[in-house]
Amino acid sequence: MKVLVINGPNMNLLGIREKELYGEQSYEDLCEYIRRAAEGLGMEVTLFQHNCEGRIVTEIQNALGKFEGIIINAAAYSHTSIAILDALKAVALPAVEVHLTDVGNRESFRCFSYVAMGCEKSISGKGFAGYKLALEHLAGRV
Ligand code: DQA
Repeated sequence: MKVLVINGPNMNLLGIREKELYGEQSYEDLCEYIRRAAEGLGMEVTLFQHNCEGRIVTEIQNALGKFEGIIINAAAYSHTSIAILDALKAVALPAVEVHLTDVGNRESFRCFSYVAMGCEKSISGKGFAGYKLALEHLAGRV
């Protein structure tokens, strides 16, 4: 199964940004973790990170016909982006939303996610392991 993993704005600064929330590990460490988890499950992952909303929309559109599932941590855009929601609905690929932190127990503006409305499952507060759980969820579908 081929899965596209999308990380949104500021996820490239993992290990530097708000370490008390997001930890010490870098975005490269996250990529390595996801690659290993996918390998263990016999899945193929492509990793994409971008800070721009439109580039994320385009990546989702381009996933059609190339991938069988999407894992997305749209970061702050989760809480604001109808465009990303519409793109997920347009391609209609099985999608799972991931957040490293427990967004339901942070500021009130993080409690709502447009992206979640385009995903069949949302996983928050499990750190890197959330991406593995998302891969397992997608693997379980096929
Ligand atoms: C995040 C949570 C978002 O609210 C925040 O804007 C992020 C990261 C997470 O992984 O916990 O940038 O998506």
